[in-house]
Amino acid sequence: MFSKESYIARREGLRRLMATEKGIVVLPGNVESPMNYPSNCYHFRQDSTFLYLFGLNLPGLCGVIDLDQGTETIFGDDLSMDDIIWTGPQPSVAELAARAGVNRAQPLKELAATVADAARKGRRVHFLPPYRAKTAIQLAELLNVRLDGLKGGESVELALAVVELRSVKSAEELEQLEDAARIGYAMHAAAMRMCRPGGTEAEIAGEIEGIAMKMGAGTSFASIVSQNGETLHNHSHYQQLAEGRLLLVDAGAENAMNYCSDYTRTLPVGGRFSAMQREIYQIVLDANNLGQKLAAPGRLYRDVHLAAMHAIVDGLKALGLMRGDTQEAVAAGAHALFMPHGLGHMMGLDVHDMENIGEKYVGYDRETQRSTQQGLASLRMGRRLGEGMTMTVEPGIYFIPAYIAKWRAEGRCAEFIDFAALERYADFGGIRIEDNIAITSDGCRLIGKRLPATIAEIEEFMA
Ligand code: GLY
Ligand code: MN
Ligand code: MN
Repeated sequence: MFSKESYIARREGLRRLMATEKGIVVLPGNVESPMNYPSNCYHFRQDSTFLYLFGLNLPGLCGVIDLDQGTETIFGDDLSMDDIIWTGPQPSVAELAARAGVNRAQPLKELAATVADAARKGRRVHFLPPYRAKTAIQLAELLNVRLDGLKGGESVELALAVVELRSVKSAEELEQLEDAARIGYAMHAAAMRMCRPGGTEAEIAGEIEGIAMKMGAGTSFASIVSQNGETLHNHSHYQQLAEGRLLLVDAGAENAMNYCSDYTRTLPVGGRFSAMQREIYQIVLDANNLGQKLAAPGRLYRDVHLAAMHAIVDGLKALGLMRGDTQEAVAAGAHALFMPHGLGHMMGLDVHDMENIGEKYVGYDRETQRSTQQGLASLRMGRRLGEGMTMTVEPGIYFIPAYIAKWRAEGRCAEFIDFAALERYADFGGIRIEDNIAITSDGCRLIGKRLPATIAEIEEFMA
């Protein structure tokens, strides 16, 4: 973990942002989550806001900040001898709390009494929307409400304060993101070396996930390693690699401090892009480069997204796949046939940073609301960029046969799309190119070294 001074400063920041609020803030850490029977659990992942504010990466803890009295407490149970036989010795909860700069530690059973006491006195209990069933049950029991009574009861003030703090990465966080980028680079470099006909998607997925485990805490999300890159979240890895196809690799690492990277590269199996692949690849790369050129403090990420979509439409028009006025095509959402997702998202302790808190707080604000239009509706982040934010830039072009067939049958955006010309692309797949950036005082910079990105760089690396 970072030094305790970092966590103390973060919690002071939270209190400053909530200076006009009263009551207590309850921040549950995660507990173990059973996979197929109670003692066979999924890999433990701590809640990121708990990690951010307290740095303690163990299950079964809960932090409480009393806004009125200025006290902080870590609730948790010390291990019994029975536990220690299975887990080995662990620091006491008081020692753990001290590492986070918290000077009060109490057993978990006191948590219920603390929250009940606050509720009895009519004090506000601030919590974030739970995203795990166990946490929702814990909160419902603490607050003595039915589970469905929690919905909408989250503290908007707490959500906004946490988002404001976590959106801007400190120098020591940026170092951790660089470390996660270094692991991500090694993962993708291995994939590029292994992308040969006769190999399998599974061999590459296994290798790169092994690298993430060897160099850090594992992957930051389930890796996508697929020749069917047109299926956006394709997690099957059963195919053999075939000369001439494209392999889309979207994978990233979580480093030892739980900071993430998230890169996508699309590779020609065998090492050489076909003429048709080059044309589409170059459009996606141009959109990615444009996104990086435009990302700057003060600019709406929605506008960066829209500029990249204009570039995609211009590129597809040059190939005869789209037509008409570019502005009108984007305004009608015609580009969403090819790029149904957003240009990117914030990244930090979560690969989609803070998505659990709610996109209306994280990616949007009073100034920017999520659109309902095709494509734009999937943009996770539309609000204004600020120095210290860390983002992905991830345009793509996908030829999704069922989606194309549906639009064609409905005559949707037919004035902008040449459906007959698209028939040649039925088995093309998809291309996405994803980089990670940090917003600087006057623009942005890459986090980590850029993976080979141009056609020449990729072909040279693969050779
Ligand atoms: N891998 C998920 C994403 O790129 O957002
Ligand atoms: Mn990704
Ligand atoms: Mn991403």
